[in-house]
Amino acid sequence: MERLVSNWYNHRALPESYICPPETRPGKLSIPSGDTIPVVNLGEALINRSNTILNVLRASQKFGFFQVVNHGVSEKVLNDTMNVVEEFFKMPMEEKASLYSEDPNKVCRLYTSNINYGTEKYHFWRDILKHHCHPLDDCIKLWPQKPTRYRDVIRTFSVEGKKLGLAILELLTEGLGLESGYFKKDLSEAMLLVANHYPPCPDPSLTLGLPKHCDPNLITILLQGHTFGLQVFKDGQWIGVQPLPNALVVNIGHQLRIVSNNKLKSAEHRAVTNSKVARTTVGLFISSSEDSIIEPAKSLTNAAQPPLYRAFRYKEFLSYYFSMMGDTELALQPFKLPFNQSVIS
Ligand code: OGA
Ligand code: NI
Repeated sequence: MERLVSNWYNHRALPESYICPPETRPGKLSIPSGDTIPVVNLGEALINRSNTILNVLRASQKFGFFQVVNHGVSEKVLNDTMNVVEEFFKMPMEEKASLYSEDPNKVCRLYTSNINYGTEKYHFWRDILKHHCHPLDDCIKLWPQKPTRYRDVIRTFSVEGKKLGLAILELLTEGLGLESGYFKKDLSEAMLLVANHYPPCPDPSLTLGLPKHCDPNLITILLQGHTFGLQVFKDGQWIGVQPLPNALVVNIGHQLRIVSNNKLKSAEHRAVTNSKVARTTVGLFISSSEDSIIEPAKSLTNAAQPPLYRAFRYKEFLSYYFSMMGDTELALQPFKLPFNQSVIS
């Protein structure tokens, strides 16, 4: 519990254990300008669905990242969600102590930094609240009891966010030419909520809130609020994801990259900190259940486009992914088919 950044950061210089090696340091940060990730108006799908499909598909192929507006999740739900999560992190430590755990298998927990504080080489400027959202009626009993509105507000956000995620997946299904409802059942059954809290940082140039990574799951929907901090790695450069009012950020995870046989991109991203204000984000990570089999969709592969990955259980991938955290290609390596083998199969 003492390890939470929000517990001790006040008026302290950046401890050495939070300084990243020079090659991963963000350096001097400026508010992003110029190149930015696409913004898709989902409301347009009602009038011109094929154009919306094209926009979502192009963004997923080129960037693996986009923002959506007119997405159907109301401003009230977004504001309530951000407010209740910010309130959670502002509560006195005693109120949150029972949720703190360094055991990654706990289904609802408050922790800090990244995957394993005890074994990581250096730490990250982030506290995290993470819990399962499926099956909702079982998980909800384990969610924070305070603030008292937490369970109600987050139930609504998770239901609406899941609906949005499935609608986006359906646009991608059509865009890729997969059979309708391809992602509807097993492949998108599970969902995790991850609330990230990045307190103001004494030296944002030396540390990161979250290291470079790709999400392991199918698709992620992120409410990033008003404060800049998310960056996407594209063509050797970091591109900032501009906070837009009422927008949600969407990104493709490894699972979708694999099912699409690399037609969609799982983009690397990271979070930087700032010295002025705390930044809070709320992500919904849609994935298959851990026992589901993940493999390139059969209808997307043929002799000319052989499967690039073998079939595997999602849980097998997850445990390898977490052991390789930070190295995107290495995390995928044992699941890739060697080129000649993929031609034969
Ligand atoms: C994540 C993530 C970005 C952010 O939680 O996987 O990429 O801006 N978060 O908090
Ligand atoms: Ni991420």
